Amino acid sequence: MNTTVHVLYENPDWNPPLVAGLEAQGFNVELHFLDGGLIDPSTEPAEGLWLNRVSPSSHTRDHSSTVPLAREVLFWLEHHGRRVINGSHAFELEMSKLRQDLLLRRHGLNTPKTVLAVGTANLVAAARTFDGPFITKHNQGGKGLGIELFNSADQLETYLNDGAFDPGPDGKIILQQYIQAPEPFITRVEIVGGRFLFAMRSRTDEGFQLCPSDACQVPASNPDVCPADPSSASKFAPSPLTADDPLVQKLVAMCVAEGIEVAGIEFIVDAEGNRYVYDINGTTNYSGVLAEQTGVHGMHELAKYLRTTVVPKLAVA
Ligand SMILES: Nc1ncnc2c1ncn2[C@@H]1O[C@H](COP(=O)(O)OP(=O)(O)O)[C@@H](O)[C@H]1O
Ligand SMILES: [Mg+2]
Repeated sequence: MNTTVHVLYENPDWNPPLVAGLEAQGFNVELHFLDGGLIDPSTEPAEGLWLNRVSPSSHTRDHSSTVPLAREVLFWLEHHGRRVINGSHAFELEMSKLRQDLLLRRHGLNTPKTVLAVGTANLVAAARTFDGPFITKHNQGGKGLGIELFNSADQLETYLNDGAFDPGPDGKIILQQYIQAPEPFITRVEIVGGRFLFAMRSRTDEGFQLCPSDACQVPASNPDVCPADPSSASKFAPSPLTADDPLVQKLVAMCVAEGIEVAGIEFIVDAEGNRYVYDINGTTNYSGVLAEQTGVHGMHELAKYLRTTVVPKLAVA
């Protein structure tokens, strides 16, 4: 019988490349929109594979119930022994930049100095522990949420007192050492099923929102611009990074050890050539324009991994 892939999602704009990749591998696809919903614990989830595509930025699309509901759905699926790609453990990591920092350091990766703070007084106290410039981020991030650059604790204090600060979905704020990159790009390493797919460079000179999905490239001021237009995606370029790079090897080992089956992981390089890793995206998206250039289509690679590696083990489970 043909396997069904059940996709838990919140942003429909990110589904088409995924569905195309899954269908190309002959899967039935069932899309499950997670915002409102109900779970009866006495019922069994449908058979098949479950793929979690719920993003930490869901609340910014008016879906503030998505992340809390996803937590319960994932627990229910795993309780019943369903095979979930990027299940609870990967999901909780994606929802917390603090946890990402802990994990990255445990796996021997260099990260920028990072502190989590809740409440105005603690934010200022945390800021006083930084020597140079630092940035703030929402602990539950995505899309560059809550990212502001400060040169001093006093500057942050003034900003907080002005009331302009956005405390994010739950008040948990990350303060992080600002890494001054001499070249205006970050690198994103794409890993699926313990395999390095490719790395790309994202230009940072237009701000902190670096989602690679073609659907995210439409300028808000002109929604008629075609997202597949190469000029709208020129923010992204292939990176020369290869699978045998020691940093890539550490990232792959971390993903395997932690059961993160799909990830786009970002790092930035300072003037001395030090590489700092700061973001693990489980709900990663791939630039279609870049895929046309390189011939590597991320969602097709993900679907192939499911077909060749995950499904055979499902059958014998
Ligand atoms: N420590 C840092 N130093 C310099 N720039 C950073 C740092 N952290 C993040 N940035 C910039 O902000 C962008 C968004 O930050 P990130 O942590 O990836 O948040 P999100 O989860 O919202 O994508 C990054 O891609 C990078 O361009
Ligand atoms: Mg990021």
